[in-house]
Amino acid sequence: MRFITITSGKGGVGKSTISANLAFTLSQYGYKVALFDADIGLANLDIILNVQPKKNILDVLKGECKFEEILININKNLVLIPGESGEEILSFKDEELIKRFLDGTKNFNDFDFLIIDTGAGIGGYVRNFIDASTDTIVVTVPDPSAIMDAYAMIKYSSKLKDKIFMILNEVKNQKEAVAIFNKIKSVAQKHLNNKVNLEFLGYIEKSSLISETSKNRELFVKKEPMSKSSLQVVQIVKKLTSNQTKDGKKIDEENSISTFFKRLFLNF
Ligand SMILES: Nc1ncnc2c1ncn2[C@@H]1O[C@H](COP(=O)(O)OP(=O)(O)OP(=O)(O)O)[C@@H](O)[C@H]1O
Ligand SMILES: [Mg+2]
Repeated sequence: MRFITITSGKGGVGKSTISANLAFTLSQYGYKVALFDADIGLANLDIILNVQPKKNILDVLKGECKFEEILININKNLVLIPGESGEEILSFKDEELIKRFLDGTKNFNDFDFLIIDTGAGIGGYVRNFIDASTDTIVVTVPDPSAIMDAYAMIKYSSKLKDKIFMILNEVKNQKEAVAIFNKIKSVAQKHLNNKVNLEFLGYIEKSSLISETSKNRELFVKKEPMSKSSLQVVQIVKKLTSNQTKDGKKIDEENSISTFFKRLFLNF
């Protein structure tokens, strides 16, 4: 199972939109996906997916309900794990309850991906999420301040991870995406002492389909699967899953959702 943290330097660059549409596309390719909302911003995942969670992970942590009770099925291969702000989740320190929580998530070992939508910036809690993940994706848009912030995020993440993926969002075209990526990569190689392996995962052009579907609480990959934007997400999925087989169903405990939460809460 892969635990993928989606993050950015600057806010509002499309993390939640990408998390939801990427997770949905992966699920349509037959992967079992859990989408975890670790950021309570303005447009959190429940709004994007047009569902109304009654309870979230914090209620499970407090022992007020079971893990399975908060899960929301989006389709046969995709569930949403409603979250709380990452800070709130990580400030939970009751070890007994954490243990009980971990026990309750042990059986959720049928997933190929956990996609975690985090907030922007180098907040304290983002570190824990990156640390606990197997993969990190940094999202940026072309404006110079976002690029500066993305670079700061990469610098920070490179202390925690050898390899970092990037998605360029709201670009004009592939050429612009690749040019920006190459610039960031060359700056990173010049200035970061540790050798960070920055990898281009893909790009999504700025499109009115995306802003329109967001307003209507729809997923663009679901509404217009053959659109340019959706095909750009498919390219991202292909790159992300190259070298990965779907028959990896022999999943042991190391690969369950509880493994992620163990790493998150117990640094284990
Ligand atoms: N490629 C795109 N083309 C057009 N609009 C886009 C694109 N990507 C994202 N948007 C729009 O940008 C806005 C912000 O997106 P989103 O909420 O996903 O960003 P975020 O990074 O999760 O923000 P936050 O940091 O607040 O969590 C949304 O209205 C979304 O529809
Ligand atoms: Mg968001």
